[in-house]
Amino acid sequence: MEPEFTYPFSETVNHLKSSDIRDLMKYAIHPDYISFAGGMPNNHLFPVDEVEEIYHNLPRDIKELAFQYGPTTGYPPLREAVKKYMESKGISFENHDVLITTGSLQGIYIISELFLDPSDTVLAELPSFIGALTLFKSFQAHVEGVPMDRDGLIPEKLRHAYKKQNNVKFLYAIPNFHNPAGLIYSKERREFILSFIKENNLVLLEDDAYNELYFDEEDRALTRPLLAMADEQTAKQIIYAGTFSKIFGPGFRLGWLILPKGIFNKAEIIKQSLDACSPNFSQVIADTFLREGYMEKYLERIRPQYKLRRDLVLQAVRKYFPEEVKYVEPKGGFYLWIELPGQVEAKKVLDYALDNGVVFVLGKSFSPDDSLVNTFRIAYSNVETDEIDKAIRIIGEGIYKAMSEVGV
Ligand SMILES: Cc1ncc(COP(=O)(O)O)c(C=O)c1O
Repeated sequence: MEPEFTYPFSETVNHLKSSDIRDLMKYAIHPDYISFAGGMPNNHLFPVDEVEEIYHNLPRDIKELAFQYGPTTGYPPLREAVKKYMESKGISFENHDVLITTGSLQGIYIISELFLDPSDTVLAELPSFIGALTLFKSFQAHVEGVPMDRDGLIPEKLRHAYKKQNNVKFLYAIPNFHNPAGLIYSKERREFILSFIKENNLVLLEDDAYNELYFDEEDRALTRPLLAMADEQTAKQIIYAGTFSKIFGPGFRLGWLILPKGIFNKAEIIKQSLDACSPNFSQVIADTFLREGYMEKYLERIRPQYKLRRDLVLQAVRKYFPEEVKYVEPKGGFYLWIELPGQVEAKKVLDYALDNGVVFVLGKSFSPDDSLVNTFRIAYSNVETDEIDKAIRIIGEGIYKAMSEVGV
């Protein structure tokens, strides 16, 4: 027998492990399973007709440009359109500039490469977005999870975590329609975060992937980015990551970073080495989508669709889940976060659900240290409305079964 070849992997790669989410994806895309697993937009809601119209109407010279490489910082008209859009949310570009990225995940990668050395610490919410956690760990950083309540990060817990750790390089937070916790930060907690980073000279990476996905107009004011709320000095400590993934389509792989001018050039150099430029084709289409008002109309069309799914899930949860189960009703976004009584393992519920054709993601996948074993995430964004009642009923049966096994 041929001897096995030993590949000379890097330290970083030796630290990587498969995520539970990836393992679950085989169920999530299987036609026989109802999936609450993927944190993704609904396939049937994408602006397919709008994109056809946009491309059809582009002048020939712009179409040709779309096939070509572009500047590392981004397609200039798109950068301008993103600036104008972000200005409408109260963000000033006096001391900041926009870098177009290949999805906001690339933005988070660039920030990680800018700041992280092995054994540095990133403070992140507990739970947090698994893509970012995996990235921080791939830089061999220590990720310290800081608990939240229904209003966001808990002030004492954040102070405590910060004091306990050395070399804290930045705080990573998702204040709007959090993935996976489904919550939105209160105004007081937003102000607390700003005063905390100011007091401690700490960098904040604000991930605002779900900013536009509020369900009720009255909640719109709450979604104001922290970068827009900060005073001029504190704003220099804030990096903002945005994305077209939830407001257009993740297939375009487009996001943006709003960077303090003092770090813009370094970020550009990192991006240059990663992919030279984000897809110009995507950028040309996204530019018209944003600039010519397609996006606003599209958002008006999809918000009620996600709200409907949230309503159907909550109705079914009230009907089928025991009252010991805790959750916060989402005011926007894609996610409902479920907390079972302390001794009940969500894994038991998932096993029952999988046996009965339903899949979701365990909460511990969103924890940097595999805690949160009594929690799970229901992503209601990409399910058919007529499947929700049945699927939640099955999860409810699983919860009752898991509770009875531990005598709750
Ligand atoms: C909080 C958060 N940030 C970033 C991303 C990554 O998005 P993108 O497709 O822009 O890389 C996601 C995707 O689910 C997300 O939930």
